[in-house]
Amino acid sequence: MKFYIHTFGCQMNASDSEHIAGMLLASGMTASPIPEESDLIIVNTCAVREKSEEKLYSLLGRLESLKKDKGTIVGIVGCVAQLHRSKLWDKKPSLDFIIGPDNYGKIPKILPNLPSEKVLFTDWSSDWTDQPIQQIERDSKVCAYITIMEGCNNFCAYCVVPFTRGREKYRPIPSIKDEAEDLASRGYKEIQLLGQNVNSYTDPETGKNFAALLKEINNIGNIEWIRFITSHPKNFTDEIAFVMKESNKVCHQLHLPIQSGSSSVLQRMNRGYTREDYLEKIDLLREMMPDIHLSTDIIVGFPDETQAEFQETLGLLADVRYSNIFSFRYSPRPLTAAAKKEDNVALVEKKNRLIQVQSLQKKIQLEKNKSFIGQTQKILCTGISRKDPHVYAGRNAGYQVVNFTSPNDVRNRFVWVKIHSCGPYSLFGEVKEFSSRNN
Ligand code: 5AD
Ligand code: SF4
Repeated sequence: MKFYIHTFGCQMNASDSEHIAGMLLASGMTASPIPEESDLIIVNTCAVREKSEEKLYSLLGRLESLKKDKGTIVGIVGCVAQLHRSKLWDKKPSLDFIIGPDNYGKIPKILPNLPSEKVLFTDWSSDWTDQPIQQIERDSKVCAYITIMEGCNNFCAYCVVPFTRGREKYRPIPSIKDEAEDLASRGYKEIQLLGQNVNSYTDPETGKNFAALLKEINNIGNIEWIRFITSHPKNFTDEIAFVMKESNKVCHQLHLPIQSGSSSVLQRMNRGYTREDYLEKIDLLREMMPDIHLSTDIIVGFPDETQAEFQETLGLLADVRYSNIFSFRYSPRPLTAAAKKEDNVALVEKKNRLIQVQSLQKKIQLEKNKSFIGQTQKILCTGISRKDPHVYAGRNAGYQVVNFTSPNDVRNRFVWVKIHSCGPYSLFGEVKEFSSRNN
């Protein structure tokens, strides 16, 4: 039997799909990149914005004909599965299974009974459950995700995640270290510690915090770059900043979502910090690590967001000058506190605010990127550029995309690249020196 997995959403979903693929391979199935040739199609879903759900329903519509013609088994996993549970069958009666994020370990066991039996698994488990690390089918040979926690206790007013991923659960440090050591022994160079709220990590066995975990991971030989996502400004401490500065492997790069530059909006969003608190942390980070690359998430058009409040977001972007941002129009999500309020910023106004955010940021990024021209940077080459097969693609320590030319195939290696030009979203250069895969 062949399977195909389609993944929507964040790194957490990408990582979960790698775990699911590993389990299916271990149960004797083979992976296929082509849905039409597969006997089983799994769609890993994202519920964070309405748009991602809409994309899912149109994909499921397209898959229905495959099911009719070939009897393909189609099931969904992930956040939409957990959010809507059996109600999804009212919308898509042909779905064979609906499985939430806490139940992926059961997937191989249900396979023999499909499609004669419809399956729904959306119960929560309160403790961390380890999956065998040798079963993960990773997309990359050099960069790997390691999940350190699941769920979120914050209940930001706009966010559906606490309802789709449940309360916070932490993975014990020895289990995290085992996975990191296994990756190091197989030649992996970069690891990304994953969780919805990594800064609140607490080892269930010793009570050690995230800063302590980072220090321990920094000691694992052969791993050269360590990153983590997602941080929360409320839980990001001076101690974590200090460990980032002192640890030679933790990249000087941080994604610190602010969501809005206005303290009154932040309060309505239930974020637990003010604009001033946030800016203080940014100042400290830059003082400790002048070369740090910062990125953030912005939501425009949250209920009752005034022109003046929105201007504060633009002002903050101009002050902080992030290396990268992800910006979204507010979209009401089921079960959230904000969904009870009127979604009263008109769609045209939301679109207009988003354009203003994105065009200001584009200008800032272009200016910042120009300052890197002439530098020679260490790049981890992850593949070939999507636009040009003769151009290699990778990222620098700051997590910026760098496209470059090279006389040799340097995929999955560190290289030194001289930057000769740039756009707002990437840097361009040529390789100066490359090192052996296991240096
Ligand atoms: N509407 C718009 N954007 C949202 N995000 C989360 N929930 C919503 C929503 N209801 C954004 C936040 C978060 C990112 C992952 O998605 O900016 O940080
Ligand atoms: Fe959602 Fe807030 Fe938790 Fe992030 S911290 S997952 S935005 S509730």
